[in-house]
Amino acid sequence: MSANTIDINQRMNRFDRHHSVWLFGYGSLIYKADFPFIQRRPARIHHWVRRFWQGSHDHRGTPEAPGRVLTLASQPGAVCEGMAYLITPQEFEHLDRREKNGYLRLATAIEFADGEQVEGLFYVAREDNSAYLGPATETEIAAQIAAAQGPSGSNRDYVLHLATALRQLGEDDAHVFAIERYLNNRGTD
Ligand code: BEZ
Repeated sequence: MSANTIDINQRMNRFDRHHSVWLFGYGSLIYKADFPFIQRRPARIHHWVRRFWQGSHDHRGTPEAPGRVLTLASQPGAVCEGMAYLITPQEFEHLDRREKNGYLRLATAIEFADGEQVEGLFYVAREDNSAYLGPATETEIAAQIAAAQGPSGSNRDYVLHLATALRQLGEDDAHVFAIERYLNNRGTD
């Protein structure tokens, strides 16, 4: 699959007739909501874990030196905590462009802290997109991140902001925090 997913996502019209739809964020969407929203609530989805397995040559890296950004990997029984935003379907015009580098917009069950469940959407970069980098050791991932920067800033800052946002949510994410530790120990070399 091409890394440019705008056309595929804009054909995902399941919620187009709804007045509003929940979007689940597990990465930069937790701390950076650069779109209008009606409501936001901490939430979780099941059977997914965060991984820095997607390449970024348009935001946190370049085609010559891609960065690594989050996607979700399927893991039965896992819980991924994040932030859900209630938005109008029109916002996807902007979001699909922002997340065009290999992310598909898929439907999912979203659960709030009080147990309420709704159907909503999330973005995931699967291994069949051409920007996918896949697994590597956390040391290798941190080394690649430490060396990458792109139009949206350094890849390192992306991880450090994310780790801070996850702590504020009360989320203990071993993968993210391990890479944060490597980055802090390496300094900015
Ligand atoms: C998110 O924060 O949910 C997100 C991460 C990567 C791409 C799109 C959305």
